[in-house]
Amino acid sequence: MLITFEGIDGSGKSTQIELLKNRLTEAGKTVNVFREPGGTDVSELIRGMLLNPEIDIDPITEMLLFSSARSQLVAEKVLPAIDKGEIVILDRFYDSTTAYQGYGRELFDTEKITQINQLASHGKAPDITFYLKISLEDSINRTNHMSKDRMEQSGNEFFKRVISGFDELSANYDRFKIIDASKNIHDVHSEIMTHLKQLI
Ligand code: TMP
Repeated sequence: MLITFEGIDGSGKSTQIELLKNRLTEAGKTVNVFREPGGTDVSELIRGMLLNPEIDIDPITEMLLFSSARSQLVAEKVLPAIDKGEIVILDRFYDSTTAYQGYGRELFDTEKITQINQLASHGKAPDITFYLKISLEDSINRTNHMSKDRMEQSGNEFFKRVISGFDELSANYDRFKIIDASKNIHDVHSEIMTHLKQLI
């Protein structure tokens, strides 16, 4: 089973993924967690390039680098784990490419991005996607003490478009569960578990 988490910075994805991993592991499941971009040697090297604030990257190159990191992760880690019947939880997946590169960078139409996403994911789609939704103001308040990587330096207008991308995706695909991530950690976790109990 493939479970993905999406949302802008500060939405609490890492915390919720940790809680979910522990819960599923206690229930006897084998759980693999990977972050995107990352999770393999090649993908972590690509991540270093993508997030380095010293480097200028053309938007199409950026989209292809995120997709390359993804292709390697899916081939090397995700598909083998799923073939063994294990659970894979991803901290971001191709919906981030649609939201950040498609909407945020205003690259191409959604159809073209969808085709590239399918290629990069080797045709593998998530079984369920949790969109941890917070406002741009909450995101800024929760992250303003941290140093900003290349993506995080993209400005408020960019992030407004990213949010509209996630909103549109979650309205269009049944696999998306919108979670109000402004709530406290335990309420958010319970909501996630309620959705998952119907699947697992
Ligand atoms: P994070 O792991 O801290 O969330 O950092 C990844 C950054 O990369 C984050 O700003 C979102 C961005 N991103 C994209 O722009 N496109 C993508 O396809 C993915 C996976 C992430």
